[in-house]
Amino acid sequence: MEKILDLSSHLDEFFTTGNESLENFENGLQEWLRQDTTGLITLLHRFVKYDKDKYCRSILYKEDDRFEIVLIGWEPGQGTSIHGHPSGGCLFTCLEGELQETLYHGMGQSTSTRFLFPEDSIRFIDDTHGKHAVVCPSEATRSMSLHIYAPPFSTTTTTTT
Ligand SMILES: [Fe+2]
Repeated sequence: MEKILDLSSHLDEFFTTGNESLENFENGLQEWLRQDTTGLITLLHRFVKYDKDKYCRSILYKEDDRFEIVLIGWEPGQGTSIHGHPSGGCLFTCLEGELQETLYHGMGQSTSTRFLFPEDSIRFIDDTHGKHAVVCPSEATRSMSLHIYAPPFSTTTTTTT
């Protein structure tokens, strides 16, 4: 878990000082992820959960009022409903497989973006961007993604809702 704690202290610094731009923060996170992606994925395999009925969220780290790091395991074809995010938004990255995000800007307008790791490795969304739905589009391959919500989205350690 050292790598996760390393990330949590990076996030802690970001949310404490509040003077780092989002762009710098994303770049820093991207660099952190690329330092040892293979090692990180191997580590996360110990924590990821899959459920045949619904994508499965596992909280890796949580600071009650500030942020949480959530790992999501997706079986082929599983996806979210259209949803918004906490006030500080959500940073997320697909570490294995692929995810497809559809952005909804309101009044029925939507754009669809498919992203792969590492090409589009980090995505950020908050409610000023609109809402989104995320799906694992593969018919055969699972996906695994890491999400940082600020403040925490979840109230339980694992949920399938
Ligand atoms: Fe989301």
